[in-house]
This record gives sequence, C-alpha cells and structure tokens, in this order.
Amino acid sequence: MRVPLIAGNWKMNTTVSEAVELVNQMRPELDRIDNVEKVICPPFVSLAAIKELLKGSTIKLGAQNLYFEEKGAYTGEISPSMVADLCQFVIIGHSERRQHFNETIEVVDKKVKAALEVGLTPILCIGESLEENEAGRTEEVLTRQISSPSDQKYYFGGLVLAYEPIWAIGTGRAATGKQANETIGFIRQRISQQHSMKAAQEVRVLYGGSVTADNIAEFVNQPEIDGALVGGASLKASEFLSIVKQTSEIKRVR
Ligand code: PGA
Repeated sequence: MRVPLIAGNWKMNTTVSEAVELVNQMRPELDRIDNVEKVICPPFVSLAAIKELLKGSTIKLGAQNLYFEEKGAYTGEISPSMVADLCQFVIIGHSERRQHFNETIEVVDKKVKAALEVGLTPILCIGESLEENEAGRTEEVLTRQISSPSDQKYYFGGLVLAYEPIWAIGTGRAATGKQANETIGFIRQRISQQHSMKAAQEVRVLYGGSVTADNIAEFVNQPEIDGALVGGASLKASEFLSIVKQTSEIKRVR
C-alpha cells in the first residue's frame, strides 16, 4: 500500500515571519490527520525556523531545490547535506527550474542521486509543455524524463514523482482526473519496463497543476494518483487543510 502524500510547494513566496505565521495557522489541524503524509516546502531561508516550529509535529519539511555537489566554491548554492540537516524531502526538476534555470535532464538526474545519497526523498517533477502535448509527444517526453541518463542506477521506487503538465501549472486549467490517471498509469508502465515492476508499484505519483480544494477529490479518487503537489492553494491555510482532509477521507475508504 502506498501512503498518500500531499506536498505544498510555496515557491518564492513568504518571508520568514509570513512562513512562520502560515505554519502556525495550519499546524494544529494538520497534525490531527493521520493517514496522509503532509509535506510543506517553504523557501530555503525559512527552513531552519520552521524545523524548530515543527518539533513534535507530524508535518514534514521539504526544500524546493538543492545542488548536487557536496561542498566547495559554488557561491549561492545549497548542498544535499545542508538540506538533509533540515528536511526529509526535496523537490527536484520542477518545470520552473527546468525552464528558467536551464536544468537539463542530466542535472536533474545528478540532483536526484545526490539527494538519495544523503537520505532525502526526492519529489521529482515531470511533465510536458502545451506544445508537446498538442504535438502528441507527451509519452515521449515523460519517458525521457524518467530515464536516468547515466549508468549509475538508483532505486526508482524510493522516489516520489509529481506529474505536472506544464500547461496546468498556475493557469487554473487543471488536467481532468481521468487524463491524469491515464498518464500516470503510463508512467508506471514505463517505470516497470525501465526500472522494475517493484519500483513501478512502490513509487508514489502525485498530480500537480492548479490543484484546489474544489478539484482535489477528482484526482485522489483515481487509483493511480497517490496525492498532489500543490502550489498556489498551499499558501492558504484553510484551503491546504481542506485538500489534505479530503485526501485523507477518500483514500481511507479504499
Ligand atoms: P499550482 O502549482 O498548484 O499553483 O498550479 C503547482 C506546482 O507548480 O507545483
């Protein structure tokens, strides 16, 4: 059985004091929900303060990025161990990083490996652009994004994947539950071929892209979808709570 997971990607929003306030608003109720793994991913600068705040809480902490080198002359970068000191999860290869910061498949692969080496659980983001979708290239793009380009293989079942069609991110135009379920079914099939059947069964796959309290049920009602990576709606305490609560209720019934 795969444990459902809801992760909030706060992106480049919230100062430290705003982040602390948001956590204080969410924490009491989120802590009462037990059958969903709850992860929040605030900006780097807030992680240390929030780690303190979450002592004794069931809410887990994630970073939004890391660099793959362990230490040294990489001004401005954050190493895997630095992240592992504060967090259990790390978002890797978000489409905004692939697009604005030139993260290639090779770089993303190195980051996934580096994260696993220090015991972090990567939330690896994959997804096709509108152009690729319209050209019928979705499967080809996803296949490339889940094939580790180097020879050094790692166990894929230990990752969390977030299928985020780029055309659905921040646009208010989410995929349908059925569409996302079919695509995630395809992703599992490919993982089974490229990695192993065990990995395909164990890897948790989230949907991401314009998830709200109004549409979360449509996604988590689908058998292939294990939860969601939530952007905009994770910045409102009541909405994020509602998303986690609905996921807990729907996945409990199964
Ligand atoms: P969104 O972002 O929920 O605001 O569409 C999701 C994401 O980018 O992870």
